[in-house]
Amino acid sequence: MTERGALGVPAHVACIMDGNGRWAQQRGLRRIDGHSAGEASIRAIIDAARGAGIQWLTLFAFSTENWDRPVAEVDHLMEFLRRVIRRRGRDLHQRGVRVRVLGRADPRIPDDVHRAIDEIEQRTRANTRMTLTFAFDHGGRQEIVDGVRRLVRRGMPDDAITEAVLADHLQYPDMPDVDLLIRTSGEYRISNFLLWHIAYAELVFLDVLWPDFRARHLHEAIDIYRHRSRRFGSVGAQQVTEESR
Ligand code: IPE
Ligand code: IPE
Ligand code: MG
Repeated sequence: MTERGALGVPAHVACIMDGNGRWAQQRGLRRIDGHSAGEASIRAIIDAARGAGIQWLTLFAFSTENWDRPVAEVDHLMEFLRRVIRRRGRDLHQRGVRVRVLGRADPRIPDDVHRAIDEIEQRTRANTRMTLTFAFDHGGRQEIVDGVRRLVRRGMPDDAITEAVLADHLQYPDMPDVDLLIRTSGEYRISNFLLWHIAYAELVFLDVLWPDFRARHLHEAIDIYRHRSRRFGSVGAQQVTEESR
């Protein structure tokens, strides 16, 4: 039963998995050890999201700006996604999760990473329990620019371009707007993540560093979300009732 006045479970949760470097630094480890430690958190959020009935989970794994990091760290992050897919792929498939990758246009991405992504996307494409999207080599602005380019290539006349038409030309037209955006590590920014889809997302910033993130943190964020009042520019349902009395 839904609590009176509370929102339901968000359909689309997106997460900026931040704080791996600081987590490692606090322990005298290398930054890449922090990324490796984040694998358990990825597993935790996927399982918890699926258990909570979330339909869409999008995880920010590598940004278009992250190419500016030291080469060894970039190499590690490339290999890291491949490793997560390799280790988790079969299980995700068995649990009915459709896996996709948003972004990945840069020629620096190694071929074996592309192959691992292609393989898991193919294998899980018909799954319907949850869609798990890794935003990898993703930039929100780049995604919109790519959509505009598709429109231009199709010779779309300017007056035919609406928000819905542009949304239809993004990489995954079926991906719905984000309901709940979580960022870990206590930073309060978006860092060029899913700009189009977060227009009306509820933002929740948690103090936990990503490698320490577990199911309870997702539950906490969902709870905060459920007690928010989403108005989408209108007035709340309660106000409408009061005014019309
Ligand atoms: C997030 O952790 C992971 C990626 C950006 C890939 P960071 O590596 O940004 O960790 P901090 O922010 O330096 O602590
Ligand atoms: C955002 O985190 C990108 C990912 C989590 C993949 P960053 O650590 O790269 O963002 P900034 O540099 O703090 O904005
Ligand atoms: Mg960071």
